[in-house]
Amino acid sequence: MIGIGSDHGGYGLKLEVIKHLKERGFDVKDYGCDSEASCDYPIYGKAVAEAVANGECELGILICGTGIGMSMTANKVKGVRAALCSDCFSARATKEHNNANVLCMGARTIGPGLALMIVDEFVDTPFSNDERHIRRISMIE
Ligand code: RB5
Repeated sequence: MIGIGSDHGGYGLKLEVIKHLKERGFDVKDYGCDSEASCDYPIYGKAVAEAVANGECELGILICGTGIGMSMTANKVKGVRAALCSDCFSARATKEHNNANVLCMGARTIGPGLALMIVDEFVDTPFSNDERHIRRISMIE
């Protein structure tokens, strides 16, 4: 299961990401928000981060205007490694090296075409399982 959330700034892109992931056969759970009405990103960032931390979701995707508030929020939740990505290289590297479990994106900083490519890179790339990366991740915890 992939958990996804946004604030008003990320709502439109979130709908595109959900459609894309469902077309690819993924199960997706939307934790809100539910419209473009102004709302508070920490509510939805926390909900998705907690769903990943407690195992309800394998991965999370969070979208706000910049992705910054969502990444700050998600990284407060123990066990969550949230990565703000605006390029495909980073999305791949953060899975391989950091075993990131939440992807954050800014709907106002990247276009929808790039966002979907970033999502694909994130969901398709496995963790390297290299000893040095396991050691470094345990040092974060
Ligand atoms: C909302 O205007 C905006 O602050 C939010 O989407 C996000 O960019 C926060 O980090």
